Amino acid sequence: MQKIVVEGGVPLHGEVRVSGAKNAVLPILCAGLLADQPLLVRNVPNLQDVKTTIRVLAELGAGIHLDDAFNVDIDPRTVRSHVAPYELVKTMRASVLVLGPLLARHGAAEVSLPGGCAIGSRPVDQHIKGMQALGAEVVVEGGFIKARAKRLKGARVVFDMVSVGATENVLMAATLAEGRTVLENAAMEPEIVDLAECLSAMGARIEGAGTGRIVVEGVERLRGGEHSVVADRIEAGTFLVAAAMTGGRVTLTHARPDTMDAVLDKLRDAGAALECDGDRITLDMQGRRLRAVDITTAPHPAFPTDMQAQFMAMDCIAEGAGIINETIFENRFMHVQELQRLGADIRVEGHTAIVRGVERLSGAPVMATDLRASASLVLAGLVADGETTIDRIYHLDRGYENIEAKLSSLGARIRRL
Ligand code: EPZ
Repeated sequence: MQKIVVEGGVPLHGEVRVSGAKNAVLPILCAGLLADQPLLVRNVPNLQDVKTTIRVLAELGAGIHLDDAFNVDIDPRTVRSHVAPYELVKTMRASVLVLGPLLARHGAAEVSLPGGCAIGSRPVDQHIKGMQALGAEVVVEGGFIKARAKRLKGARVVFDMVSVGATENVLMAATLAEGRTVLENAAMEPEIVDLAECLSAMGARIEGAGTGRIVVEGVERLRGGEHSVVADRIEAGTFLVAAAMTGGRVTLTHARPDTMDAVLDKLRDAGAALECDGDRITLDMQGRRLRAVDITTAPHPAFPTDMQAQFMAMDCIAEGAGIINETIFENRFMHVQELQRLGADIRVEGHTAIVRGVERLSGAPVMATDLRASASLVLAGLVADGETTIDRIYHLDRGYENIEAKLSSLGARIRRL
């Protein structure tokens, strides 16, 4: 089991490139199944979850070609199977995103139920509701979602709650359904906008992506095409928090500040000086005092749940106290106990954590439990006295491309064992 060792106390300085967004590239790779010709996806981050998705697509029979820049070419013409196997789906719930494309393009799909994960039960009832609304017969048996439909028919789908994955799954299925589909109470995340841009480049007819109401006019066929994945706003936010916590000055390149308003505003509230210029974001915290901020997570454009753990780490060493409300997932405070091992003063009451800033954290062995929790432990390690050793960092590799290389290039003393 690989570990990461971080030695605290070095302010980060320099420039780092933001990779393509994990949460955009996963649905976009699945969208390749909808087409009649190859789809070329560029700016793909080299992540474990991307490799898992590529394995799922290959398992279905798609032809996959990766070039040395990790651009991915998906040829859907050889797809033979419509069964996404349990042993792959259980490692990554986003595999459920092949459901809509397979159903729309091949009239059948069998996808293992993803099962829960560390941060919560994460059901897929809204995905199933959407497919049924489009006329599919869906049964759940033997741990599998089994869906069939001769041809999907456009419909009005009102989601019971805002769901990124359900919005993406139904949006993809609707592109080949007969007639008009209207998605109400749709998720508005930038990754949905990026997926819609990719689908439109393939010939889909979509209006309103990025708003709560998306209208799709179904078409007969989708051609291949080419799409470059949007910048990862969560990776970007994670590096900005690292700069703020260490009192450094860091510039991000290839970023999309326009997708990060809530996070940038909170960083300013915390006392950071921020400058955005095109695809560059510079955060300067030199000689500035870090102030604790209150956070309430909610669907985009509000503060993203995927940045909650990182801001909790920041509040641990800020001046004052911060109140953190996690409203999206029922168990996304797994990082609390680990941060407490480093000396953090955090009290959890239900979905709320009260964080009181302390003078110093002190390094210790800690354990990663989920992707963003492990990121928050790396951040805490960057400022803790002495060495922090983080175990089970396969969680980290799911969502961060070469995090120790990128942080080392900014001066961090970090190495992988
Ligand atoms: C996506 O997960 C992201 N993953 C998550 O990022 C992110 O935290 C989440 O959206 C919220 O922004 C990918 O895009 C691959 P949801 P998703 O459906 O689609 C409940 C990371 O760290 N729900 O928006 O699974 C669900 O339980 C990951 O990169 C239902 O009840 O999230 C949750 O409480 C973690 N029924 C809430 O809705 C459903 O059918 C939001 O879930 C679907 C969801």
